Amino acid sequence: MAGAAFDTGGSAAQNPLTILTLAELRRRTSVKWRMHPPDVLPLWVAEQDAPLAPPVADALRCAIDLGDTGYPHGTAYAEALGDFAARRWGWHDFRADHTTVIPDVMMGIVEVLRLVTDPGDAVVVCPPVYPPFYAFVTHADRQVIEAPLGPDLRLDHAALDEAFGRARARGRRPAFLLCNPHNPTGVVHRRDELETVADLAHRHGLRVISDEIHAPLVLPGAHFTPYLTVAGAEDAFALTSASKAWNLAGLKAALAIAGPRAVADLDRMPEEVSHGPSHLGALAHTAAFRDGEQWLDLLLDGLDRNRTLLATLLAEHLPAVTYHRPEGTYLAWLDCTRLGIATPRPSGEPGVASDMAGPARMFLDRARVALSSGHVFGTGGAGFVRLNFATSPAILTDAVTRMAEAVEGIAQAAPQTPPARPVIAAEVS
Ligand SMILES: Cc1ncc(COP(=O)(O)O)c(C=O)c1O
Repeated sequence: MAGAAFDTGGSAAQNPLTILTLAELRRRTSVKWRMHPPDVLPLWVAEQDAPLAPPVADALRCAIDLGDTGYPHGTAYAEALGDFAARRWGWHDFRADHTTVIPDVMMGIVEVLRLVTDPGDAVVVCPPVYPPFYAFVTHADRQVIEAPLGPDLRLDHAALDEAFGRARARGRRPAFLLCNPHNPTGVVHRRDELETVADLAHRHGLRVISDEIHAPLVLPGAHFTPYLTVAGAEDAFALTSASKAWNLAGLKAALAIAGPRAVADLDRMPEEVSHGPSHLGALAHTAAFRDGEQWLDLLLDGLDRNRTLLATLLAEHLPAVTYHRPEGTYLAWLDCTRLGIATPRPSGEPGVASDMAGPARMFLDRARVALSSGHVFGTGGAGFVRLNFATSPAILTDAVTRMAEAVEGIAQAAPQTPPARPVIAAEVS
């Protein structure tokens, strides 16, 4: 960045989320910082407010200095992920030769869907879930079938059984798109839960595609289980990258990984798909998995502190909002239904990530805090907001304080309603 006058590296043991100031962050030009006017605190899209991990920045700097900006080549990225997966998750039979580099996780999902399903086939998802699961599946000409999460926000195996049955009844080649860990709830699926998924998928004849982009972001108390290490998952696919954990969404390169009985399918991936990832992207993601673990641990520590800080702030300032403490990711799924703010029935499909209605619209208009609106996450999302806490404790505190003042303001404007349950009708803009 021309003229940058700050040290983005921080000290060796510094929480990466406390290095950049708000003024420095506002100089960023990515969607998080430019979608809304500068008086808005952006806690919506999944970008982090940390500087680049030093090993990643060094790898990029080295490539720039050399003019090493040609086409990507080789298996270094997959090997770095394989070593990371063995160290971190005990995944020792990871095979770099069972992977292919793809532009990003969502494009990879579409390409894998093209391998194992046909146009018009059913794809099961578990809402509330990452909105592009709807948009990309639909744009790939497949039909979404919902198997909503249970009231505890975990996978509901009875709902999956029923949805898999419906998907199968349509004939042809259905699939299940798993979010592991789950966005927006931050639930980290346990091995026994995933074994039941594999069993159900087998019984109904569905192929499982596991989106594992948040896998390195598992917080203390939980353990990530790669889907491909689960008994019965041999014909499944996983997709991942360093994009969420090391904030590399702007540096395109991800990996599709085939289970042993899906390798023949992966071999049918068209050659042109490998033209999408960028060489700088592959270098950055490789450096993250190979050399970025110490930085990741500092980040996870900072996220864990923010997870606790958010609980304290909400209990103190916004007791009517229910916080389901996430086990992983840096996303908090906040139940705002007790605020009594209506979400008008959306006119279109879920999936437009920047669409705002209900509580998120109110918090944007009155608190100048941008959150992700729950209704775009599909069934069960209306009345919720998703808050991205990969930010500094100061910004997090400011945001929740502003949100509480907004709720207080509504309560004062309508004194007949109890303070914890103000009722307003928010309009979709
Ligand atoms: C579950 C999930 N999958 C995929 C993505 C997007 O990944 P990519 O930019 O690699 O397509 C995100 C981004 O937040 C995500 O949360």
